[in-house]
Amino acid sequence: MQRIKLDLGGRSYNIIVGFDILPALGKTLKKLNIGTDAYIITNALIRRKFGAKLEDSLKGAGFTVRFKVVADTEKSKSIETAAGVIRDLALYDNKRRIFVIAFGGGVIGDLSGFVASIYKRGIPYVQVPTTLLAQVDSAIGGKTAVDLSEGKNLVGAIYQPRLVFSDCKFLSSLNPRQLRSGLAEVIKYAIIKDKSLFNYLFTNIKDILFCKRSALERIVLSCSSIKAKVVKQDEREERGIRTILNFGHTAGHAIEAAAGFTKYTHGEAIALGMLVACEISKMLELIDEPLAVKVEALISKAGLPTKIRAVKLERIISAHYRDKKFIGPRNKFVLIGAIGKVKIVTNVPLEVITESLKKKF
Ligand code: GLY
Repeated sequence: MQRIKLDLGGRSYNIIVGFDILPALGKTLKKLNIGTDAYIITNALIRRKFGAKLEDSLKGAGFTVRFKVVADTEKSKSIETAAGVIRDLALYDNKRRIFVIAFGGGVIGDLSGFVASIYKRGIPYVQVPTTLLAQVDSAIGGKTAVDLSEGKNLVGAIYQPRLVFSDCKFLSSLNPRQLRSGLAEVIKYAIIKDKSLFNYLFTNIKDILFCKRSALERIVLSCSSIKAKVVKQDEREERGIRTILNFGHTAGHAIEAAAGFTKYTHGEAIALGMLVACEISKMLELIDEPLAVKVEALISKAGLPTKIRAVKLERIISAHYRDKKFIGPRNKFVLIGAIGKVKIVTNVPLEVITESLKKKF
């Protein structure tokens, strides 16, 4: 079990990474003095697969336990679902010290953090992420949110958890597409911040895809540590530092939206978005062709898409137009100058963006 500290003064917390560490969660929470009653928000699959083990660990440490199951879909990130969860939470709250455990992937993490942030003006919560994407990214850094029909993540707050507890054993039970989707975010960290991680992924991608314990722990630890450093420097995304985590996300989100959020998983769309960002970096002469080819080779080795299929270019461009951050004087792209070196570039000409997108069809 290894520990990374996310240093945020009085709101600091540990990210614990290990393999088959769920039985130790109860004792770890006890030491945190987080409360007495655990309210666990999860989905039906995670509840069925790992609920009993979590319950044993918590009850063994003296906590009371209540599970709240929500549907495993982005639709659960809604004001309506949050309101239902909060009412249930209020019924369970027996005026002792209640806290929330987010037990699942990104949807559960965002929803649970949101609920914890507004119930009684904020109660403690803990992230126990069960997907690769959540372990390396969304569970860390306190971004909580629900969606509106007007747009994703429009309601929420930065509200830090008291602990992130990443058991890599969960990752062995992900379906291969989910695992590959999380790998896109791992590749993102390598490209923006960690050349040695990039080289490791290049050589060891099969070990990750086969869920070899040491490989999973290596990548979750490296990415968690990068994310902790970035969030420490720019918790509220005000200093242009946390923005680097959006590498591949501008074009990626547009591709995801243009495909109606069904054809591509988030990670697949981000993989394509990273390739578009590399293409733009190449066109602006920030990187050379061999580097772009190497990134594409890694994305392909990871089993992620390298070509945009069955989505019209015009739809992607208009999805970009709908993104207020994108077109006009404030258009801002996270690009790269080398592996491990990002460059934020403003006002990338639309022709360069369109040309780069075209090359990825
Ligand atoms: N997922 C990007 C961030 O936490 O800032």
